[in-house]
Amino acid sequence: MNKITGQKKTILSGMQPTNNLTIGQYFGALKNWVELQHDYDSLFCVVDQHAITVRQEPANLRRRSLDVAAMYMAAGIDPTVSTLFIQSHVPEHAQLAWILNCLASFGEVSRMTQFKDKSAQHADNVTVGLFTYPILMAADILVYNADLVPVGEDQRQHLELTRNLAERFNFHYSPTFTVPEPFIPKVGSKIMSLQEPEKKMSKSDANEKSTVFLTDTDAEIRNKIKRAVTDSGTDIVFDAAKRPGVANLMTIHHICTGRSLAEIESDFTGLGYGDFKEAVGESLVALVRPVRERYDALRADEDGLMNTLRVGAEHARERARNTLRKVYKKTGFVEL
Ligand code: TYM
Repeated sequence: MNKITGQKKTILSGMQPTNNLTIGQYFGALKNWVELQHDYDSLFCVVDQHAITVRQEPANLRRRSLDVAAMYMAAGIDPTVSTLFIQSHVPEHAQLAWILNCLASFGEVSRMTQFKDKSAQHADNVTVGLFTYPILMAADILVYNADLVPVGEDQRQHLELTRNLAERFNFHYSPTFTVPEPFIPKVGSKIMSLQEPEKKMSKSDANEKSTVFLTDTDAEIRNKIKRAVTDSGTDIVFDAAKRPGVANLMTIHHICTGRSLAEIESDFTGLGYGDFKEAVGESLVALVRPVRERYDALRADEDGLMNTLRVGAEHARERARNTLRKVYKKTGFVEL
C-alpha cells in the first residue's frame, strides 16, 4: 500500500523515441515492466518531450513515438492492465517540471553524468532543455506518486535527484510526493556494446554493429552476435572486468535461456567462441523474433494504436491533474 494514496503501489517508467528500441532497453527496463505490470498500478509513457532535448527531425519523432508505443505492446505491455501514453499528451508533466526547476539547485543538476556525456556528444547544440532533462524526468515520476521506477543502471543518478526533489518539496511545503525507489535488475541493467564492450549498448551508437535492435531481422541478429568483439582467450568464463565482451554475451544468453552463468560455463567447456556465439545468436533470435512479429502487426494498425494512446492519456491526465492541483495550491498559486 502507498501511504499517501492508500492504494496499490504505482510504477512509472518511460523511454525516449529517438530510435528503435534496443535489447539493452528491453533487458534493462521493458522486460521488467512486463513482469511487474500485474502487481502494480502501472503507467508507461513514450517520452517525446525528453527526445527534443537534442535535435529531432519532426516526421521521425512523430513516427518513432508510435513505433515505441507499439513496441511496448509487442514486448507484452497490456494496455488493458497498464496505462500506456505519450508524454506530451499529458501537459501536467511539463507544468510540474517548472515547479521542480525552481526547487532544484544549479549545482546538483550540473553533477548529472548523463548531461556531461550528452553535452560532449552534442557540443554544437547544448540546450537548456538537455540540462534540465532530469527535472522533467522527476516530474514524470512524481506527478503520479510512483513508488517504483524500473530502469537500467544509467538512470540511477536521475532517480536519486528525483528522490531529493520529492523530499525537498515535502519538507518545504508538506508531505505531498511519494519518494520513489529505483528498480534496477541484478542482471541486464547494463548491456554493453557489441563492438566496444567496455561501453554501454546505445541506440544512438554510430556503429550499427554495436547494437541489436528489437526490429532487427534474424540474419542481422546472428551477424551482429557473430561479429561481437570478445578477446584473445578461448574459454567461456564470466569475468566482467577482464573479459567484458564474453561476459556481455553470457549475460545475454543467460537472460534469453534462463541458464545460469555457471551452467553456461559448463555447457561450453571445451568449445570455442564460434560455437558459443552461434548459441547466443540463436537464443537471441528466438527471443526477439516473436516480439518483432507482434510489433509488425501492432504497428500496422495505427488507428488501433491511436485509440489505445487516447485512452491512456485520458487516464494519465486525470491522475496527473489531481497531483498538480495539490502542488499548485501548496505552492501558493491562486485557484480559479
Ligand atoms: P532511455 O530512453 O535512454 O532508455 C530507456 C530505458 O532503458 C534502459 N537502458 C538500458 N538498460 C540496460 N542496458 C543498456 N544498454 C540500456 N540502455 C538503456 C535505461 O536505463 C532506461 O530505463 N531518461 C530516461 C527516460 C525517462 C524515464 C522517465 C525513465 C524519462 N522519464 C521517468 C523512467 C521514469 C532515458 O533516457 O531512458
